[in-house]
Amino acid sequence: MSSSALEAFDTVDLIHAKRDAAELSTEQISWMIDAYTRGFIGDEQMAAMTMAIFLNGMNRREVRDLTMAMIRSGETMSFASLGKPTVDKHSTGGVGDKITLPLMPLVACFGVAVPQLSGRGLGHTGGTLDKLESISGWRANLTNQEMFDQLASIGGVICAAGSGLAPADGKLYALRDITGTVESIPLIASSIMSKKIAEGTESLVLDVKFGSGAFLKDIDRSRELARTMVDLGNDAGVKTRALLTNMNVVLGLAIGNANEVRESVEILAGGGPADVRELTVALAREMLALTGQPDADVEAALDDGRAMDTWRAFIRAQDGDPDAALPIARETHVVTADSDGVLVEQLALPFGVAAWRLGAGRARKQDPVQHAVGIDLHAKPGDTVTAGQPLFTLSADEPARFARALEALEGAYRIGSASEKVLDGGPLIAERVE
Ligand code: URA
Repeated sequence: MSSSALEAFDTVDLIHAKRDAAELSTEQISWMIDAYTRGFIGDEQMAAMTMAIFLNGMNRREVRDLTMAMIRSGETMSFASLGKPTVDKHSTGGVGDKITLPLMPLVACFGVAVPQLSGRGLGHTGGTLDKLESISGWRANLTNQEMFDQLASIGGVICAAGSGLAPADGKLYALRDITGTVESIPLIASSIMSKKIAEGTESLVLDVKFGSGAFLKDIDRSRELARTMVDLGNDAGVKTRALLTNMNVVLGLAIGNANEVRESVEILAGGGPADVRELTVALAREMLALTGQPDADVEAALDDGRAMDTWRAFIRAQDGDPDAALPIARETHVVTADSDGVLVEQLALPFGVAAWRLGAGRARKQDPVQHAVGIDLHAKPGDTVTAGQPLFTLSADEPARFARALEALEGAYRIGSASEKVLDGGPLIAERVE
C-alpha cells in the first residue's frame, strides 16, 4: 500500500462528490479503480462509493470511463489471429436460462468463432459452468492455447474466464453482492462490458432480462441497461446489440444443472420446449447477422444434427463424455394441482430460489453445487390442469431440503378459471436495441 501523500486524489473527496451527486472526472475514475485494484482504497471506502453511485447514478461519460478503467485493471485478449469472425453472447441472468449451451454449438457450426467465457452461479440464477460440470469429465479451465486451438478446430469454447480479465470487476462485484449495490445500471453495465470488451470478441449480443426472475424487474430499467451496454460496446469498437427478454416466467421446463443440460440436448436434437428454442434461434440469428450471415438457416442446423455434432465435439474436446448418463437425484417430491382450472401464474423468482435451496446453486462463492438436484415443471402459465395432475417435481439428494424449497414456493403459482388473464408478462422477446 502506498502513502496517501503520493496519491493523485483523496478518496474521501471523491466519496463526498458522488454522495452530493457531482460528476467524477475521467482522471478521478481512472485513479479510483487503479487504487482499489492495488489495495490503496479499502472495501469500506469502495462500499460507500458504490452506494453513492447506486443512489445518484453516473452519466454516460462516467460509465464509459469506469468501464475503460476496469478493462485497464487487467489483461486483454485478442482473437484476431484466428482468421474467423468472433461473436459472443451475454445474458444478464435468469431462472432456467440454459441458452448458452445449445446456442454456442449452433452458432459455431456456421463457421464463426464463439469464445464463450462464462461464470458460475450465485444466488437464484444458475451458472453455465456449473451446469456443464454435470457432464462426466467435462473441464471448465482451459489454457489460452487450448482455447485458441479449440476455436480454430471446433469453432466454439465455453470455459471459465481467467481472473486476469478485469480483476477490478471481480473485487467490485463481490463487494456489491454483500452491500446491496448490485441493481445499479452504471455498475451492472460497466461490470458486464468491461469483461466482454477485455475478452476481445469482435461482436456481442446481449440478452437483457426483465421481470420477476431478473436483476431488474422493470422493462424501462432493462431498456436503459441495454441502451447503456450497447453504446459502451459500440463506442469501444465491439459491434453490439441487445434483445430485451421476458423473465417473469421460467425459461423452459428444467431448473437446476443436469436437468438443464438434458433440456439443452433436446434442443440440439431439434426438440425441447418451444420458448427455449425460440430464444436460442433468435439470439443465433442476431449473432450470425453481426458476423455477416443475416440469412443463415439456423433452424435447419438444429433439425439436421449439425449443431448436435458441434456440441459433441465441444464436450469431447473439454474431456467430457457426451454419451455418459447424467446424474439423477436420490429423492423426488411431486406437487400436484389441488383443483381443475388454468395455471394463471407461475413466478420465476421463487422457483429459482427453491431450486437454489434444493442445492442447485450456491450461497457463497466457495460452496459446491449439487448437480442432480432441481425442479422440473410439468405445466406452464396458460396450461389447463386437472386436480391431482403433477405441476412440478422437486429433486434433492438430501430430503431435509424439501421443506425449505416448498416454503419458497408458497404463493408462487395459482390455478384460476379459464376466463382469467394469464399473468406471464407478455411475449418472450419484447424488444431489440441496436
Ligand atoms: N453480471 C455481471 O457480470 N455483473 C453485474 O453487475 C451483474 C450481472
